[in-house]
Amino acid sequence: MREGIQTEFSRNGYVILEDFFSEEEVAELREAGVKLTENLPEESKRVIFSTTKTQQFQNKNQYFLDSADKISVFFEEGALDENGKLLVEPGIALNKVGHALHWLNPTFKKYTFCEKVKETCFQLGLADPVIVQSMYIYKNPGLGGEVVPHQDSTYLHTEPQRLIGFWIALDDATIGCLWFAPGSHKGGVHRRMIRNPDPNDEELFIFTAQSPTYPTSNFTATPVKKGTCVLIHGEVVHKSAPNKSPNPRHAYTFHVVDLKNSTYSPENWLQLPSGQTFPGVYKN
Ligand code: FE2
Repeated sequence: MREGIQTEFSRNGYVILEDFFSEEEVAELREAGVKLTENLPEESKRVIFSTTKTQQFQNKNQYFLDSADKISVFFEEGALDENGKLLVEPGIALNKVGHALHWLNPTFKKYTFCEKVKETCFQLGLADPVIVQSMYIYKNPGLGGEVVPHQDSTYLHTEPQRLIGFWIALDDATIGCLWFAPGSHKGGVHRRMIRNPDPNDEELFIFTAQSPTYPTSNFTATPVKKGTCVLIHGEVVHKSAPNKSPNPRHAYTFHVVDLKNSTYSPENWLQLPSGQTFPGVYKN
């Protein structure tokens, strides 16, 4: 019999749950994700997302800052020219959509708050899990770039650390899958990205330290079939390679924080407008 997911999660910093969603459930989620590529914003309002060279561009962008309670779209580098005109088909132009799909889109809401997610949170020992953000990630062939090694707690910090990512494969993820450094969640948060406290600085976000260099040999690939859910500890170091396969690699991901046992940092980039609260997994 498989050991409890909490034990495996504590040891490795991630857990792979195969067949988390059925073929029909995956198809419904994927269809909803494809639908998000229709009705793209007008050219002047298009924003590129990248974890590498144009990060400064993204960081300065108010659109990103304001996306906590919206369904906002972020384009791939290489999908737009300098005027925001599409260089590729609309269906493969997006990097991701976020960060409130779990609340504002009925399909993503249905699956984010489904019994399987509640049960998994319960098995992980979470007392008051809330959803803080959600993203649909396209990782299209050719365009879907690498995601550099990072810890999710760099972006979404809680005190003490109680962040867990749910990453659900909606296509088979082979080339361009997630890579983990097993056990790397035990060394604390290496750096944080916070809202810039200096209102006169043009950067809206700042990092508290340079990114460490993570040895390539520490990473293990986790190819998974569609319908698999990967649980990601907030401090486990992970990355994903560019999608050089001829196939898309869509995924739906959301992040959970246990508010009973931790505090969500007011310094995090992602903040709801005043008066709004993160929706509880057990209460919705
Ligand atoms: Fe991540």
